[in-house]
Order: sequence, then structure tokens, then C-alpha cells
Amino acid sequence: MKRVVFCVVGAAFVAASVVSIQAQVEPLPLWAWGRSTQPQPGDKAAPQASPNRNLRPNEDPNEQTMPRTVQGSSAKYSLVDIRDGHNVIDWFPQDHPAMPSIVKNGPASLGEAARGCGSCHLPNGKGRPENAPVAGQPVNYFIQQLRDFAAGRRISSDPRKPNTPTMGMLARSMSEEEMLQAAEYFAAMKWTPWITVKEAEVIPEMELEEGNMYITHGKQPTEKLAGRIVETPEDAWQANGLRNPHSGWIAYVPTGAVARGRRLVETGVAMVGGKPVRKTTACATCHGADMQGVGDFPAIGSRSPSYMMRMLYDFKTGRRNGTYAAIMVPVVSDLSNDDLRDIVAYLASLKPPAPAPTRQTASAR
Ligand code: HEC
Ligand code: HEC
Repeated sequence: MKRVVFCVVGAAFVAASVVSIQAQVEPLPLWAWGRSTQPQPGDKAAPQASPNRNLRPNEDPNEQTMPRTVQGSSAKYSLVDIRDGHNVIDWFPQDHPAMPSIVKNGPASLGEAARGCGSCHLPNGKGRPENAPVAGQPVNYFIQQLRDFAAGRRISSDPRKPNTPTMGMLARSMSEEEMLQAAEYFAAMKWTPWITVKEAEVIPEMELEEGNMYITHGKQPTEKLAGRIVETPEDAWQANGLRNPHSGWIAYVPTGAVARGRRLVETGVAMVGGKPVRKTTACATCHGADMQGVGDFPAIGSRSPSYMMRMLYDFKTGRRNGTYAAIMVPVVSDLSNDDLRDIVAYLASLKPPAPAPTRQTASAR
């Protein structure tokens, strides 16, 4: 069987990590899964409904069928269009190349029951906290992940998470051609930041949509952050109701998390009782100085901290156990949940480097 060549450096690390003993794993960091309780033995995800254009009986039909608009777009879509996962809407087609059928309609082998990748990951690949940011990832990395999902080697540490099994099912249903088309489409998109990281102790009151995400309707700080990261849409109606891919996110993180995370990411060292302790390897070695990936190593900077936290925890529990996951096991094995939280807070706060200024703009300053 022909395999995608991932990376040579990786192979050496896989061999090294096989002997590493996994440190004790702490309970699930609930905030990263949008949950209020730990999973219990026997818990399972209910299968997600197939995409459809049915009217919802508990909502006014006119509200569901009237055309909507968003700022800066000339498109008009109803809520029925917006919720139709088999015909992904596109508010800003000028932002990206034309969506191939796999991204707009989903795997052909599933017919009408197929979901387009853009329905969860958005047509611009930015993704959302409950799924994953896929834009700008290397083609080989992207395809390897699809193979890992298809092989059941990327499942979630919370068995209640509903969309990870859907992702696995979609990966199993894709042809080689569709995998390549999706990978090339998303890889061609440059990542632009859309998450604002705010350090805080008290945050606006949050409503938790179980298994999904935090939503707020208030602005006044009334709720204790209590060691979590809370990632929430800047405007819940724009982001969730209308799936506006220009509407950004706020990540509230504990005070001091960004500086602590930066130290771990840059040096692998944490301060414990005032003393420096080596806990991990500096991430730039593999993920690039700007954390935007190198070669086939993925980008991890300025992306959803909830997603990144789930992945780091999944590497620890072995639920993410794909072909190259073993390279990440020694990186996370000595890091506590709080260390991982600080790391993803820092990573999310990064801005991808701006393109180098041209001679003209430089001298104009
Ligand atoms: C129902 C929502 C949903 C749809 C539709 C969907 N995905 Fe995903 N995808 C996910 C979730 C959820 C994850 C992250 C899994 C987790 O957090 O446990 C993910 C992760 C991924 C990743 C891994 C990203 C990384 O950085 O490692 C890739 C690649 C991916 N999806 C590609 C696709 C492609 C291609 C399609 C279209 C065929 C698709 N997805 C459709 C939900 C979805
Ligand atoms: C020795 C190389 C190496 C080092 C050092 C390393 N990584 Fe990784 N990382 C990888 C590889 C390879 C993958 C892809 C694993 C796979 O395919 O499952 C990865 C994947 C990840 C992912 C998942 C990305 C996604 O889109 O799903 C995260 C998050 C991550 N690394 C964070 C870190 C952090 C934080 C550090 C530093 C503390 C770090 N890595 C250090 C090699 C490395």
C-alpha cells in the first residue's frame, strides 16, 4: 500500500517514545469539551442526525424561511439554507477558491446523507471550538489525519462528544481523490487570526450548551473563570445563528496564563516553587518559530485553545493515537492540565507574522 510520507524527523521520535511511561492522567478538563460533568462508564455519543431541510416544529416557519443577510456579503440565505449541512452556504465566496464538491456537499458515496466539510469547518476552514481549525495545514498532515480518523485512531477522550464519530464516519466514506481535493483546498488558505485572548478572573455570565460551547448574552463580569479557558463567540447570533465566518471569538484565560504558557512553549521550563523545572521540549523545534508549522508539521498558533487542549489531552490518554501521535506523547507526558491550559492560552494569543514590508512601505514610515 502506498503511504503518505509524513516526516523523517518524526520517525526517530516515534522509536524514542515507545519506551516512555505515561504519567498519571488527570480528569477531563471539562471546559475544552464544553461539559459540566465528567463522563461515566458506558457513556456514548448519540449519532448525529443526517443533514436535512426540514422546518423545526418549535420555531416560527416564517422566521426559518425568510432570507437573511450579513454585513459585507451580497448573499441571501434562510435559516433552512444555513442549517442544510449537505449544501454548505457561502457568505464570502471571494475569500477563497471555489469549494470543491467534497467541501460543499460531502463524500459522494454517502449521497444525500453526506455533510460537506464546510458545514462544520466553515468554507474558509477556520473551524469552531467544537470542531477544528483546518485552514493552512500541510496537505500531507491533513491526509494523514483523515487516514487516522478512518482507522479509528482519533477518537475523543470524552466518549459523549457527538461530532468526533461523525468525523470518523466521513473520513471512512471519502475516496482518495476527495481526500486530496479537501486537503489541497484548505491547505491553500492562509491563516488569519480571529480569536482575542483576554486574561481575567471574572467573566460575563455564561450559558453552557452541553457538549458544544459557552454562550454569553451579557457584558458585565459576574462569573468566576475558576481556572478554565472559556471560548465564546463575540456575537452568538452571527457565529451560531447565521454561521457568519467573519464573526470572531473571545477566549477568556486565567491571569498569568499567557506568560507561563510562553515560557513552556519557548523553553520547555516551568517555575515550580520559584525554581525552574524542565517539563517538555520547546515546541518551535517541530512547529516552527512562529508556531505556524514547518514542512509536514502542523500549525498550532492563533487557533482555537479548546481544540488544542482536547488534542494535547487526547495524546496523553492515547485517544489520539494516529501514525505519528507517538511523537507528541513525550511532549505532553509530564505536563499537568494547568500547564497544558497555559500553553494553549499562549498559543491562541499569537498572531501569524504579517507579510514582510516591501521597500516602499518600509521607507514611507
Ligand atoms: C459534523 C462536523 C464535522 C464535519 C461535517 C467534518 N468534520 Fe472534520 N472534524 C470535526 C471534529 C469534531 C474534529 C476534531 C475532533 C475532536 O475534537 O475530537 C475534526 C477534525 C478534522 C481534521 C483534523 C484537523 C487537525 O488539525 O488535525 C481534519 C483534517 C478534518 N476534520 C477534515 C474534514 C474533512 C475533509 C471534512 C469533509 C469531508 C470534515 N472534516 C467534515 C468535525 C467535522
Ligand atoms: C519532536 C517534534 C515535536 C515537538 C517537539 C512538538 N510537537 Fe506537537 N506535533 C508533532 C507532530 C508530528 C504532530 C502531529 C501528530 C499526529 O499526526 O498525530 C504534532 C501535533 C500537535 C498538536 C495537534 C495539532 C492539530 O492541529 O491537531 C498540538 C496541539 C501540538 N502538537 C502541540 C505541541 C506543543 C504545545 C509543543 C511544545 C510543548 C509541541 N507540540 C512540540 C511534533 C512535535
